[in-house]
Amino acid sequence: MTQRIQPSPPPVVAETLAEIRASIVDSRKVGKSIGFVPTMGALHAGHVSLIERARSECDTVVVSIFVNPTQFGPNEDFQRYPRPRELDLKICGDAGADIVFYPSVDVMYPVGYRTFVEVQGLSDILEGAIRPGHFRGVATVVTKLFMIVLADRAYFGQKDYQQQLLIRTMTTELNIPTAVVTCPTLRDPDGMAMSSRNAYLSPEERQRGLCLSKALNLVANQVEAGERDILKLQRQLCEQMAATTGISVDYGVIVDARTLSELTEAVPEMVALVAARVGTTRLIDNRVLRLA
Ligand code: PAF
Repeated sequence: MTQRIQPSPPPVVAETLAEIRASIVDSRKVGKSIGFVPTMGALHAGHVSLIERARSECDTVVVSIFVNPTQFGPNEDFQRYPRPRELDLKICGDAGADIVFYPSVDVMYPVGYRTFVEVQGLSDILEGAIRPGHFRGVATVVTKLFMIVLADRAYFGQKDYQQQLLIRTMTTELNIPTAVVTCPTLRDPDGMAMSSRNAYLSPEERQRGLCLSKALNLVANQVEAGERDILKLQRQLCEQMAATTGISVDYGVIVDARTLSELTEAVPEMVALVAARVGTTRLIDNRVLRLA
C-alpha cells in the first residue's frame, strides 16, 4: 500500500509580542516542551538541521527570524542582508516549525530602547575585537528572545563557535532556564561551512574561501598525527590561508575550547578558529581539536 506524505501545515506567524506570547501560552499550559531556533533568516540546510533537531526533541518548535540591527557595525551588511520572507517561512514549515516569530525592529527595539547585555572577556576578543559591539548586540537580542519565548531548549550551530560559547555563558550567568544546545556545522560537499553570507560570494571567491576549511583540516590532521606545538600549528593555519591569492586573513588561532584563552601548550580540548575576508565578504570557520 502506498503511503501519502502529508505536506506540513504552514507555521503560525507571530509578528508582535502579544501574538508570540498567545501562540506559546497554550503549549505551556499543557506542559509541552518548547524548542527554539533563533535565526536571522536567509535559511539554509544548516538552519534546517537545527529546526529538525528541535522537532525531534521538543513538542513545540519556535523559530525566530530577525535581522538584528544592534549586532551589525556601521559599515557592515545590515541593509543588504538577504530577507527572503516567503521562502524562509516555507523552509520553516517544511522543517517542522510550529511557530515563526517575525518581529519588526520597532517590536524588538522601541524608540528610546537602552538596555544591553555584555559578556565581559568573551565579547571583545577575536570576532568581538574585529567587530566592536557585535556580541553586545547578539547577547542583547538573544536574551530578549529567550525572555519572550521561554523555551526549554535553544539550538545554535557550532559554525559560530564564539557566539555559542558566549550565549551559553550568558544563559548560565543570568540564570535563564533555557538549555543551550550546540549542533554540528553543516558543510557543502566541497567542505565550505554553510552560511547565509556565502550567497555574496562569486564562484571564484567561493573557490578561494575553501582555504579556511582546508587550513582547519591540515591542523586537525597534524594534531591527530601527534603534533603538539601550538605556535607551529597556529603558524601553519595562517600560512595555509594566506597562501591563497585574494584572501586577507583576520585571524587563525588555536585556543582553549572552553574559555577561548590563548595557549602556550596543548590542552585536552582546543578549538582552531579562523576568520578571513574574500573580496568584501567575511568568512569564519572552526574545528574542535581533542587530544586522543
Ligand atoms: O547566529 C545568528 O543568526 C544570530 O547571531 C542570532 C543568534 C540569531 C542573533 O541575532
